[in-house]
Amino acid sequence: MTPVSSARAQGKAISASRVTVAQLMQPTHANLQGSVHGGIIMKLMDEAGASAAMRHAGRPVVTVAVDQVLFREPIQLGDLVTVNAGLTYSGRSSMEVRIEVTAQNLLTGLSTYTNTAYFVYVALDDARRPIGVPPLLLESDAEREQWERAKERQAHRLAQRQAG
Ligand SMILES: CC(C)(COP(=O)(O)OP(=O)(O)OC[C@H]1O[C@@H](n2cnc3c(N)ncnc32)[C@H](O)[C@@H]1OP(=O)(O)O)[C@@H](O)C(=O)NCCC(=O)NCCS
Repeated sequence: MTPVSSARAQGKAISASRVTVAQLMQPTHANLQGSVHGGIIMKLMDEAGASAAMRHAGRPVVTVAVDQVLFREPIQLGDLVTVNAGLTYSGRSSMEVRIEVTAQNLLTGLSTYTNTAYFVYVALDDARRPIGVPPLLLESDAEREQWERAKERQAHRLAQRQAG
């Protein structure tokens, strides 16, 4: 059995697919007010989330849902933005990923938490249809609680989808 098919049968820990990406905010990332454009941050969030989901699934993924993204603090040019992404839930083919963003002023060392959001990805087979992913192994009470909350969010999303 290959490592991927073995993981598919036995499950994978959240820590096995966690992803961190960091990027220095440059003038090309500015909005008209001179701080960082929100779209740049959302792209980074989606890339980090998709990377974690692909690591878990061992398959290509697409984004199927993005929960509310709130920006609490502006991010300044010259800040180092760090995005942490970790799975909270896996269904048959879907995976919820919690994505957290912080920005650090490299001159003062001050880090600011800017936002958290939940994105949902679906793993695809070679015909671009949903395919099963490994179960998520929950290793702590915190991860089990997180899973329960994620299941509620997913049920809410599916109800909204149903309502059209
Ligand atoms: C993702 C996609 C392949 C799913 O196809 P589908 O016919 O809806 O397939 P299903 O109904 O079997 O859903 C597949 C999984 O996605 C989940 N899902 C579908 N819509 C969802 C939504 N709005 N929110 C959360 N999960 C959703 C389902 O619950 C299911 O999860 P499960 O397998 O864990 O039970 C299809 O919707 C698609 O291609 N969407 C476009 C994706 C894309 O291009 N993203 C980039 C953004 S531009």
